[in-house]
Amino acid sequence: MKFAIINGSHRHNSQSGKVAGFIERTLQEQGLCDAVWRYDLTGNPLPLWEEAIWDADPEWEARLAPIREALSESDALVIISPEWHGMVPSGLKNFFLMLGAREVGHKPALIVTVSNGPGGAYPVAELRMSSYKNNRLCYIPEQLIIRNVEQVLNEDGENDPEADPYYRERAVYALRILREYAVALRGVRDSGVTFDERFKNGM
Ligand SMILES: Cc1cc2nc3c(=O)[nH]c(=O)nc-3n(C[C@H](O)[C@H](O)[C@H](O)COP(=O)(O)O)c2cc1C
Repeated sequence: MKFAIINGSHRHNSQSGKVAGFIERTLQEQGLCDAVWRYDLTGNPLPLWEEAIWDADPEWEARLAPIREALSESDALVIISPEWHGMVPSGLKNFFLMLGAREVGHKPALIVTVSNGPGGAYPVAELRMSSYKNNRLCYIPEQLIIRNVEQVLNEDGENDPEADPYYRERAVYALRILREYAVALRGVRDSGVTFDERFKNGM
């Protein structure tokens, strides 16, 4: 069982990166998977989408090959998005343009959003509205909205005594559900019904 964690913040030392580290440790400590692949959009490693991608441009192929391989091997994804101006960061939306159904189709994904205040609901709504249509990623109904993020999930112990244990327990709960979806959805993919040349894109 392999999980992929995507940190959608472009910022260096982002809180989303901190949350990604917490999710990775929790997966390992709880024995929920055998391996974790983490990909950070810190510093914008991917240029904006270009049509050359469709022409199998060698530079793009070299850039995307390791990402495609790691995602193809993954059974489940955790998508971490900060709320920026009430939106998902553009780098994360750009990343979704490069994901295909062959890598992530019919794989379960947990949405985790991050706000340094009381926000975090808008990126949940945005991801559920747009980001899965063609790649057929399956967002599970559970989600984590990490509000006042600077006061929780810190390694040094300087955490809000009420909110911090709640988020830690809630994360275990959500990740255990994600794992069960990963087990269940393997059967859907293996059934062979999900790929049909006539219907390459979602409606
Ligand atoms: C460009 C920008 C816009 C932001 N807009 C919002 C917002 O609309 N709502 C919100 O709750 N936080 C907003 N924030 C603050 C983030 O919640 C905060 O930076 C938090 O640490 C998560 O982002 P990070 O993972 O990049 O650190 C914004 C931050 C940036 C950099």
